[in-house]
This record gives sequence, structure tokens and C-alpha cells, in this order.
Amino acid sequence: MSATTLPTPKNLTITPRDRRFGRETPVPRLWHGGRFEATAIYNALSTTFPVGEAYFVESVRAFAKGTPPKLAEEIKGFTTQEVIHSREHAAFNRRATESGYDLSKLEQRVEERLAVARARAPVANVAATMALEHFTAILAHQLLADPNHLDGAEPETAELWRWHACEEIEHKGVAYDTWLWATRDWSRWKRWKVKAKVMLYVTRNFLVDRTTGALELMRQDGVTGPRAWRLLLWYLWVRPGMFRKIAGAWLKFFMPGFHPWNEDDRHLLARYDASAKDAPEPKRKVRRAA
Ligand SMILES: [Fe+2]
Ligand SMILES: [Fe+2]
Repeated sequence: MSATTLPTPKNLTITPRDRRFGRETPVPRLWHGGRFEATAIYNALSTTFPVGEAYFVESVRAFAKGTPPKLAEEIKGFTTQEVIHSREHAAFNRRATESGYDLSKLEQRVEERLAVARARAPVANVAATMALEHFTAILAHQLLADPNHLDGAEPETAELWRWHACEEIEHKGVAYDTWLWATRDWSRWKRWKVKAKVMLYVTRNFLVDRTTGALELMRQDGVTGPRAWRLLLWYLWVRPGMFRKIAGAWLKFFMPGFHPWNEDDRHLLARYDASAKDAPEPKRKVRRAA
């Protein structure tokens, strides 16, 4: 695919929404509806974001020089969005720590994974980022498409997750397009082979690490053994079943001609922006600060 025929919509603009969440109102420890497993898996995910998203930015920017102007512009928007996400998730993680969770084991795991990744060539890092950004985008799509996922969550924290999901959808093509640009001299077969291998690898690590991380946080709440496994697996795979529901979108990644924008889900962005316009607290605070 040449850089001029990318399916990323021509009229797509990546607009950072600089919002702040949870700074003024206290957030309960079990912010997700008082549920151990729901709070634990979102907390485990959030633990990865500050350093993980900094890694995404660094991996993409390694190839930014010389990219076509539209992609260069998108990389800037992507970078700003991810930097603000890191800031908000660092604040979220501080609140989790203040409410008594010890995130150090989870953070250490992320650092170990990143150390292994960073020892590889830049193209391997942009490949891992491209795969993880697809993963993030399909989680984000599911989160916005089905309100059950945040059912019962503390409202401002739920808003943080919706805001993040919205921007993940908006910039979902950037790492992919950068990967296409970085590998423009490769054969289709070589590209497919590498991207399939990388996706299987990052998916395995994602599932193992987030499950282990969530179980560790549940242990800190006194929920252990078969009960912890049952609650968590039911939540992730059955109801609301986030992992089960993204399986189809995950598989599409392996199809020939895949591109994140083959599915144009900007209606979810429009819906989010319309609801955020009327959002009571977070956005007003930003306006005051600006
Ligand atoms: Fe992000
Ligand atoms: Fe992202």
C-alpha cells in the first residue's frame, strides 16, 4: 500500500481534548460499582498507561522524520493525546495508591516488558506499538459502544475512561500508518509475517500480565484463590465480557488488506463529543484553567 492510498479518512483530524479528571472529588477505592474484579482490571490497565504510552510515542516518533505531511501532522496529534493520557492515568494511579493499593509489582512487570522491547530494533518497536494500538482501539470501541462496561462506575472516573477511549479511536491509524511507512520497502508477505507474529506475542503478554495484575490487586482486597479467578474470568470473558466481545475485531487484524480505518467508527466519537459538551464537571474545570 502506498502512502497516498491509506484508508485513514482524508478529513480526519486528531484533536487533543485536554481534560482533567478526579482532582477535586474523592474517588472510592472500589470505584467500579464496588466490584473487586471490575476495579482491579481497569486499575491494572491504567498502571500500564503512563510508561506504556510514552513508549508508543517514542516508537512512532523514531520514524516521524520524512513521513508524508498528513501522517506527520497525525503523529503530532497522536503524541499530544498520548502525553495527556499519561498525565491523567498517572493521576488516576496516584488515587489508586492513595486508596491503599500497591501498584509496584504491576509497574515492575511493565518496566521489564519495555526493557525487552527497547533492546530490539526500532522497526520491531513500531510493530509492537502498531499491534498494541489496534488492541487499544478495539477495547476503546467496545467500551464506547456498550455502556454495560462502565455500568455502576463512579461518574467522573467513567468519564476518564470514555475520554481516553474516544481519543484512542481517533488516532487508531497513526501507529499503523507509521508502520506501513517504516516498512514500505518490505514485501507484503514479510509484513504480514512480522505483524502476525508480533500481534500474537503482544496479545499473549497482554492477557497474562493484565490477568496476573488484576489478581494481585484483588489479593490486596482479600479476594484470592478460585473465587478471585471465577469473578475475574466471568467479568472479562462472560459478562460484560470485554475480551470475548473484541475477539472478532482482533481476528480481523490478520486478514489481508487489514487497516484500522477499514471500520469507520467515528459515530462513537461524535456521540462522545456531543455528550462531553454537556458534561458537568471535568470540561468546565479545564475551561477555567485555560
Ligand atoms: Fe492513550
Ligand atoms: Fe493510543
